[in-house]
Amino acid sequence: SNLLLLNGPNLGILGRRQPEIYGTATLRDIEEAMAARVAARGWKIVSVQRESEGELIHAIQDNYDSVGAVVNPGALMVAGWSLRDALANYPRPWIEVHLSNVWARESFRHESVISPLAAGIIAGLGPLGYELAADALMKTVTAP
Ligand code: DQA
Repeated sequence: SNLLLLNGPNLGILGRRQPEIYGTATLRDIEEAMAARVAARGWKIVSVQRESEGELIHAIQDNYDSVGAVVNPGALMVAGWSLRDALANYPRPWIEVHLSNVWARESFRHESVISPLAAGIIAGLGPLGYELAADALMKTVTAP
């Protein structure tokens, strides 16, 4: 079974992106930690990072057979209406993750168009948030 890991704009450069906010772990580090975490369950990580909303939507549509998803939408959180529609049609549970605590930052980051659809939200725990989201899906998800 595949667990979909979806990262939006500007998250492919993690490690080199405002490390004072986002830390020094790379997306590869995050993928490897998640893969190790879900291996015991027999799950694999399918990781997709794209800069554009349309490509993220394609990734969702192409992965309806995944067991669940961990989604960091980046700034699409606040205005990604078509991403929201795509997630609304994703048939499995998914968890929203933000590395930073968006509610402790600029007010434009406080509104979300996608959070109401998420099974849960983790923010502010850095890369660990992705692993915790994977743990939560392993505990709650039954195979499709
Ligand atoms: C982010 C927070 C967003 O506000 C920002 O636009 C990002 C990263 C995070 O992981 O903390 O791109 O989603």
